[in-house]
Amino acid sequence: MNTNWVVMKFGGTSVSTLKNWQNIINVIKDYQKETPKIFIVCSAISGVSNLLESFIENSFKGSQDAILDQIKNKHIQFAKELGISVPSGVVEFFDKLEQLGKGINLSEEASPKIKALILSMGELMLTKLIMPFLLENKTNAYWMDARENLIVDNFDSNNNHLLRGKWDQDKPEEDFINKCNAIIADNHDCIITQGFIAKDRLNQNCILGRGGSDVSASYFAVKLSASRCEIWTDVPGLFSADPRLIPASRLLRKLNYEEAQEIASTGAKVLHPGSIPPLHKHLIPLTIRYTPNPDIMGTEIRSDLSTESEAVVKAISIKKGIVLISMENLTMWKHPGFLADIFSCFKNHGISIDLISTSESNVTVTLDPIQSFGTTLANSLLDELKTDLGKICETKIISNTCAISLVGNKIRNILSEIGPLLNAFKEQKIHLVSQAANDLNLTFVVDQESSEKIIRELHFHLFQKNAMNRDIFGPSYDELFKENGHKDHEKILNFKKERPWWFLKKDTLLSLAKTSSPLFVYDKETIVKNITQLKTLTNISRIFYAMKANWHKEILTTIYNENVGIECVSIEEIKYVLDLFPTIDRKRILFTPNFASKHEYIYALNEKIWVTIDALYPLQMWGEIFENKAIILRLDPGHGQGHHQYVKTAGEQSKFGISLNELDPIKEICLKRNITVVGLHAHIGSGILNNNNWADIALFLGKLSIDFPSTKFLNLGGGLGVPDTSRKAPLNFTQINDSLKQIKQIYPNLEFWLEPGRFIIAKAGVLLSEVTQLKTKGTSQFIGINAGMNSLIRPALYGAYHDIVNLSRIDQPLVLKANIVGPICESGDTLGFARKLPKTLEGDIVLIDTAGAYGRSMSSSYNLRSPAPEKLI
Ligand code: LLP
Repeated sequence: MNTNWVVMKFGGTSVSTLKNWQNIINVIKDYQKETPKIFIVCSAISGVSNLLESFIENSFKGSQDAILDQIKNKHIQFAKELGISVPSGVVEFFDKLEQLGKGINLSEEASPKIKALILSMGELMLTKLIMPFLLENKTNAYWMDARENLIVDNFDSNNNHLLRGKWDQDKPEEDFINKCNAIIADNHDCIITQGFIAKDRLNQNCILGRGGSDVSASYFAVKLSASRCEIWTDVPGLFSADPRLIPASRLLRKLNYEEAQEIASTGAKVLHPGSIPPLHKHLIPLTIRYTPNPDIMGTEIRSDLSTESEAVVKAISIKKGIVLISMENLTMWKHPGFLADIFSCFKNHGISIDLISTSESNVTVTLDPIQSFGTTLANSLLDELKTDLGKICETKIISNTCAISLVGNKIRNILSEIGPLLNAFKEQKIHLVSQAANDLNLTFVVDQESSEKIIRELHFHLFQKNAMNRDIFGPSYDELFKENGHKDHEKILNFKKERPWWFLKKDTLLSLAKTSSPLFVYDKETIVKNITQLKTLTNISRIFYAMKANWHKEILTTIYNENVGIECVSIEEIKYVLDLFPTIDRKRILFTPNFASKHEYIYALNEKIWVTIDALYPLQMWGEIFENKAIILRLDPGHGQGHHQYVKTAGEQSKFGISLNELDPIKEICLKRNITVVGLHAHIGSGILNNNNWADIALFLGKLSIDFPSTKFLNLGGGLGVPDTSRKAPLNFTQINDSLKQIKQIYPNLEFWLEPGRFIIAKAGVLLSEVTQLKTKGTSQFIGINAGMNSLIRPALYGAYHDIVNLSRIDQPLVLKANIVGPICESGDTLGFARKLPKTLEGDIVLIDTAGAYGRSMSSSYNLRSPAPEKLI
């Protein structure tokens, strides 16, 4: 059930400035375009909860008035900043506080109920205070008392803290949903309520502990069966490490619930760990957002991310002040009950254990300095424990250690890769290593004093040294907050702006697919955007589009209009281009054939098109046709690159290009026939994501240009790859351009050309297809679609990966794993293996991504099934 409710929680600093409230109002307005059902949970003004705590303490001494003044002042000042007068509702709370303080002073006691009532005032006052401001800003909010709507089990009333208060219902509540729906239907723009506070079954006030507003938001999201829950706070999200310690730490853009839980529990203070399990249970996505800049799309936490299956270290967390207890007993080996005996000592003293490691004669455990309900480990308690343990074994207490954890899904899989990382621990004493059975964290306990050095070194190796998957790792904290970097990074961060074109145009796509499917759809804007990106390569003089990637007429026209030339590999492609653009400047066409017939060369030469020769044979055997002509030579650098063996086009095994030991006879023929070599060419493969590739080719050709002194340009080929999954980093154009610049400085008189196909069109195209049938066989599930390998052969031919999504249910949780298969009579007709999808039904439209290049152009009518037709939008 998804009720379209969005729950947003704004923390203390978020609700304490005018600027933030202006942002909040903008966010509400923005979200209203998507859904009217907005539920807001607020914390108290920052500092107020602390003041309320000392108000209680001071009430016993009769010195509470000064604190009360501070509390009042905070609200009065804030009202001033907002430009409103303090509402009577807030003044009533001031009065009530005054009475309660007097009461405590007189009776010299404060029951848990009274304490909770006082502590809840912060949130109550803030939410009352903000109402007139919202109204003035055309936001008709409904004020809801959280205590009447969140009833929890108060299992900790003695302590007056409900740190992990269980809301035992833990499921959507229809009555509550109906009530909230009715409020919105009654012309309210949103509901505003308080975090941190609730009531128990005896109708007593209780609180959910520090950071409890996050937990409130999570409970309300579950009660409402919300489509998402957002925690708005004063940091942009979870980071790969503590940014205060490591400014280079990277914003984590995507995590699954387990990883987020682990990070939240192992050090980061951004999110209350208790807020995750309820959302996880109900698969409600959780996002951390940054109130001062709503453009930044912080950290998204959900279960259905494609990154889930890979092993990547996402974060390093550090927990300081860990106490280590080492227990030694030479006779413990194979002595049943030894562990039970020592653990009962811990139990008897009410001490909870964190990590454990055992050997034949030693058991070492760590204790978190902050025990349950926020109590700290007192030294006296540790002494008592030591005395007790001393009866069973030799006990050593080592304090001031620190736990450094590498956190990430399937951490076990990376063990083999982290060998070099362990260097960071050189000369440091590792007291304990623990690899959690949940396969989410690998923890090293070391001396506290060396911890910062270690964590910096680990962070450098894990997150700074290499290019990172930008889908998971956002910009660094430093980049985000250094003055000039901010604007650029907003772009990188903003998921909305970064979402693929097809996500933004999904309604158009769905209606197109309803009338005709399967269907290739291409996006003109994306084509132009890709060309614009290519044009940022200022060291490239000319670009030719390799039309073999896709020769759809409107696409060619779009590309032609961008002043890009065209690269052809057959006489048919040339004729097609001349037919489409009869007046085209012939020097905008490049002919790069391989093992073509003689007549194709004759035709191209007669048309005065650039002709590339990629073998000695044509020159040797048909030299006369090239007499007095200018030609380009395709040379083989000796090694290929590319996404698959079949698309590597250089090296001894490859049929392409001239081997360097044939250059002498070629030079001779050229001299004899007055053939001028004006250009040198190399194309070593397709789908290359190595930024230096084109500079390497330029250098290779540049050196050879000495042998062919009339060379004016170097055609560096195509092959620019696009990542097929979010796990790969895209090409870095600045890096490509910078590397080309260095070669250009060596050969300033030579132009550099490029002839990309895939880069221009791959991401601009998708294949839409309708679900035909579903099948389960044992543990395998199959989703049949009406597009097959006859439309897109790349998965069958190269094992190519194309992202596949159920466009009809794009927002739904991914609950199944299935093979996506077409209707062709071959088992190879599988477009995706073991793909995660939402519950999928016949008639749903699935989208196969990155299908613009080598999709339709390599299609066939196998089985007499026509390939998917095409549409440019
Ligand atoms: N130049 C020459 C000489 C080529 O042979 C090719 C592609 C290109 C340029 C353009 O390469 P691109 O920029 O598109 O990577 N069917 C395969 C790709 C085969 C590429 C053939 N030659 C696939 O689906 O991945």
